[in-house]
Amino acid sequence: MRFRHGTQVARRESYDPVAKALHWSMALAILGMIVLGIYVSRLSPSMRTFRLFDLHKSIGLTLMLLACLRLLWRVVRGAPETLRDGTKAWELVVAHLVHVLLYALMIGIPLFGWFGASASGLPMTFYGIADIPRVVPPNKERQQALLQLHDFLNWLLIGLLALHVAGALKRHFVLRDATLRRMLPFGDAQQQVGFKDEKTNSTLQEHRVPCRLSDRNDGQRPKLDDGKV
Ligand code: HEM
Ligand code: HEM
Repeated sequence: MRFRHGTQVARRESYDPVAKALHWSMALAILGMIVLGIYVSRLSPSMRTFRLFDLHKSIGLTLMLLACLRLLWRVVRGAPETLRDGTKAWELVVAHLVHVLLYALMIGIPLFGWFGASASGLPMTFYGIADIPRVVPPNKERQQALLQLHDFLNWLLIGLLALHVAGALKRHFVLRDATLRRMLPFGDAQQQVGFKDEKTNSTLQEHRVPCRLSDRNDGQRPKLDDGKV
C-alpha cells in the first residue's frame, strides 16, 4: 500500500493469534474456576463434592501449565508496544504492574491451591486418570494457612481484574485507541498503521489519526512528524 511518497511501515501492531487465543480462553477458564471454587467450597462433604474438587484441581493445574507456557511465549515473542496517547505516566505504570501481577497470580493461585490440597493429605487425581503428587506433607495448620492464601490471592485477582477491565474499556470507549481491538480475536489495529516518508525518513506514528481522509471530520490530511501533509 502506498501513501503519497511513503511506504507502509511493517510494525507488529497486534497481539499474535497464539497470545490472543491464550488470553481469551484462559480468561474464560479462570473466571469459571473462581465460580466453581466458590460453589464447591460451600457444598457439604459428599462423593459429588469430592469429584467436583478433583475437577477444580485438575483444571487449575492445567491452567498453571498454560500460564507458564504463555509467559514463555510472551518472553520469546514479546508484545506490541504500549499505546501512550492520552495516558498519564502513572496509568501506564499501573497497567504494566497489573499485567505483571496477573501473570504472577495465574501461576501463584494454582500453586498455593496445590500446596494446600497436598497438606490436607487427601488423594487427588488429574481428571481421574493419574494421581496428582502431594508436594507438602500433611499438616492441618499448614493446610489452613496455604488455603487461606489461595483464597486471599483469588480476591486480589478479582480486584486486579476489575482494574484491568476498567482500563481496557476506558481505552476503547474514552481514548478510543486500538488497545482492546488489537487483543480481540478478530480485531485489527488498522488505525495504528505507521507510514515512513522516504524523503525525510520520518515516521507517522499517530495511533488515533484515521488513515483514510474520509474518516476525518476536519477534512485535513493526516500530518507527518515534520508537519508535511
Ligand atoms: C486458576 C486456578 C485456580 C483458581 C482461579 C481457583 C479459585 C478458587 C476459589 C475462588 C476458591 C474458593 C475460595 C473460598 O471461597 O473459600 C477455591 C477453593 C479451593 N481451591 Fe482453588 N483455584 C485454582 C486452582 C486450584 C488448584 C490447582 C488446587 C489444588 C490442586 C485448588 C484447590 C482448592 C481447594 C482445596 C479449595 C478449597 C479451599 C477451602 O476449603 O477453603 N485450586 N479455589
Ligand atoms: C481472568 C481474566 C484475565 C486475565 C488473567 C488477563 C490477563 C492479561 C495479561 C497478563 C495481559 C498482558 C498481556 C501481555 O502483554 O503479555 C492482558 C492484556 C490485555 N487484556 Fe486481559 N486478562 C483477563 C481478562 C480480560 C478482559 C475481560 C478484557 C477486556 C475487557 C481484557 C483486555 C485486555 C487487553 C485489551 C489487553 C492488552 C493490553 C495492552 O496491550 O496494553 N482482559 N490481559
